[in-house]
Amino acid sequence: MIKILKGNFVFTKEMNRFEVYENGYVVVENGKIKLLTKELPEIYQDTAVEDMGDQLIIPGFVDLHVHAPQWLNTGIGYSKELLPWLNDYTFPLESEFDSVEFAKEHYENFIQDLWEAGTTRACVFATRHKDATSLLIKLLKESGLGAYVGKVNMDRNSSPRLQETTEQSIQETIELLEEDPTLYEAFAKDNTTEAPLVQYILTPRFVPSTTAALMKALGEIAVKYNLPIQSHLSENRSEVAWVKELHPDIDSFAEVYEHFGLIQPGRTIMAHCVYNTDSEIELLRKNQVYVAHCPQSNFNLASGIMPLRKYLNLNVPVGLGSDVGGGHVLDMSKHIVDCITASKMYFVDHPDYAPISVSEAFYLATKGGGSFFGKVGSFEEGYDFDALVINDSSLKMNGTPTLVERLEKFIYNGSSHNIAKRFVRGTEIKR
Ligand code: GUN
Ligand code: FE
Repeated sequence: MIKILKGNFVFTKEMNRFEVYENGYVVVENGKIKLLTKELPEIYQDTAVEDMGDQLIIPGFVDLHVHAPQWLNTGIGYSKELLPWLNDYTFPLESEFDSVEFAKEHYENFIQDLWEAGTTRACVFATRHKDATSLLIKLLKESGLGAYVGKVNMDRNSSPRLQETTEQSIQETIELLEEDPTLYEAFAKDNTTEAPLVQYILTPRFVPSTTAALMKALGEIAVKYNLPIQSHLSENRSEVAWVKELHPDIDSFAEVYEHFGLIQPGRTIMAHCVYNTDSEIELLRKNQVYVAHCPQSNFNLASGIMPLRKYLNLNVPVGLGSDVGGGHVLDMSKHIVDCITASKMYFVDHPDYAPISVSEAFYLATKGGGSFFGKVGSFEEGYDFDALVINDSSLKMNGTPTLVERLEKFIYNGSSHNIAKRFVRGTEIKR
């Protein structure tokens, strides 16, 4: 199946500059980009062209770290830091997901809002509840969006209602996988079969929530099913100190994950990474662990400013995460803004680390995080055609702005109201 779209394409093949195709054409075959060109070749002259006029066409946004249940809690409780916020706000809310009816209403709403925000791919934490997670997976499959989703594993230091036993955590994780092998088997077989859009990701909450026995078992499950892994690392100073108390014999927070087999090279995401030591950063680099940078959440919970430029200089893979409910909005455009702002504030006291440019932050929210999903987040040949059509006519500007300036305006001042169409792997997703 061939589809051709005409419009103003803006994307980042490389971090430090935008690629622009004004009045260009994209030829999409079976969901993949075959060609992006300024002149449409003769062979396509009989194929219908969907003309997007003067609108911008950009890659769909990738949210590398989001908690679906926490969308109900955004905007409240931010006068607390991470650990009291988890106990007082997050754990009570997540406890409600033992009711599938509660989960259904909420997860339908979450997916609607994720779609509206222009996120086309996301790495999603559910809760520790098997049935509600299974429902979230089903709803995401029906949505047409792309996602890695995991049931949260947490068998220590939680509330009585939310905590699970070690056995239950292992058992229910295996059941979710065995009941739906499409969630992992494309990767388990070979790495060439195209994986369905919704896939499973192992989701140990963070070291303080998981016993050594559970972490060890999850490391074995990761190997057996060839699964990716997501968790949290070095977000907050009290959290880092607590991990040291819990595992005095292991040198660092990152090494606790490594020790238990929870660092799968190239297929692991660690959210936050604000306080990693140089040797932890080297461990991440060596294993090509993805860092999900969540600046808005780091502001809200007064966690700190992650030294993003340091990670980029060292070639650690990075994407952006909303970390909703630590972050308060789903729109990745606003996380791009917060990423830039955070880097500027960091620069003031660390002049060797230059601020992040708009193209760099845009790259992180598209191709940077997208690469965790494969060829996603750019308009190069062979990439999945994940795209947003942006109607920015309501965003008034002086003079004749360039296409890049129009994109900057959308990022800073636009909203989901400016998103006219969303495509995932070549299919327009309507709701
Ligand atoms: N660390 C462990 N759990 C969480 C969570 O739900 N949100 C954030 N921001 N950090 C965490
Ligand atoms: Fe998080």
